Amino acid sequence: MKALKVGLLGIGTVGSGVFTVLTRNQEEIVRRTGRGIEISMVADLDTARASAVVGNAAAVVSDARAVIANPEIDVVIELIGGYGIAKALVLEAIAAGKHVVTANKALLAVHGDEIFSAAAKARNGAGVMVLFEAAVAGGIPIIKTLREGLTANRIQWVAGIINGTTNFILSEMRDKGQDFATALKAAQGLGYAETDPTFDIEGVDAAHKVTLMSAMAFGIPVQFDKAYVEGITKLGAEDIKYAEQLGYRIKLLGIAKRVESGIELRVHPTLIPTKRLIANVEGAMNAVMVQGDAVGTTLYYGKGAGSEPTASAVVADLVDIARMTGNASQATPALAFQPSSVSALPILPIEQVVTSFYLRMRVADEAGVLAKVTGILAEQGISIDAVIQKEAKDGENQTDLIILTHDCVEGKVGMALRQVEALSSVLGSVVKIRKEELA
Ligand code: HSE
Repeated sequence: MKALKVGLLGIGTVGSGVFTVLTRNQEEIVRRTGRGIEISMVADLDTARASAVVGNAAAVVSDARAVIANPEIDVVIELIGGYGIAKALVLEAIAAGKHVVTANKALLAVHGDEIFSAAAKARNGAGVMVLFEAAVAGGIPIIKTLREGLTANRIQWVAGIINGTTNFILSEMRDKGQDFATALKAAQGLGYAETDPTFDIEGVDAAHKVTLMSAMAFGIPVQFDKAYVEGITKLGAEDIKYAEQLGYRIKLLGIAKRVESGIELRVHPTLIPTKRLIANVEGAMNAVMVQGDAVGTTLYYGKGAGSEPTASAVVADLVDIARMTGNASQATPALAFQPSSVSALPILPIEQVVTSFYLRMRVADEAGVLAKVTGILAEQGISIDAVIQKEAKDGENQTDLIILTHDCVEGKVGMALRQVEALSSVLGSVVKIRKEELA
């Protein structure tokens, strides 16, 4: 089957991430999709920057309309941002019968109804797809979750930390006692903030995102103009401290809730009990909670911005289009990969698994035990991360020895522990618990 041909409008941080991810994972993506996905044309006013990213792999032009006019192009990715030229180009791409993928939450939250309705009428009523996974919470697949994974539910509410810049600022203010301005500067330096940072700190960016989620959760039009929007600029550092003393964290939440009389759509600083998982989402990370009548409360966590996390979402949309416009047999496969591409990679026996370990043993409280145990571990190439040896209790001549290892092959640990357990100074068997940092 012919590769899906893609034209990219704007190759800044996210665009170059899309190119990199698609190139690096092309083989795996073809196994999932059943066909290639190829960025064959890129438009950017800075053609030198674009050429530096794509080399000879794609034609580079400065005129976005040349991409839209190219009959070879199946999909246009809009990564320009804003409401101006981006809106005109998206509508022109739709009119030209191209599918569109965009990360532009501002555009969709404000003009979404016009754009989706144009998309439905395109190609003489056959329609084109406008996909926007990257527009909300970056790499977290929350759009797909609302559209597909939770589709059986009557959704009651959605609440999320969906702006990394403000979450980073609040974390810095709480952790380091920094003032607002210093924390904002740091966030901008790290590249999280919007071109106009007032969109972040005044809650507008979060409101764009929660508006899109409200439409998907409740089947209502996108109505950004009806959202209540309050940012974090008036939040005092002392309130963050007092809330903490009372067992709460303050987060900028985007909330869309179904109540008897209608829908609440709001963004504002919110106290959340510290014991809630979402209260512990720190730095630029995003998290979204969705409550559905069947599933209960669910939580999705990940990077809400950045080159490759956002590219992850853009490329997922391309894969959806490739599957939906390919052969029927290449539509979303039940096990995610095309049946003809299922790999014979073996499942490893536990002895071959590499992980780190917590080891606890009861030992005689006598000289040289620790050296004997660590010597055996060293012979198997097992490196030690930490050791705790408890002092023997009064009147006892034995104690607990606890060892944390670095990553090692499980089989070697088994061999070492057999020797350790055979030592006369080791009493009973060794408790072994695997450890994963999940970093
Ligand atoms: N400015 C946004 C944020 C970027 O801080 O989360 C991703 O939409």
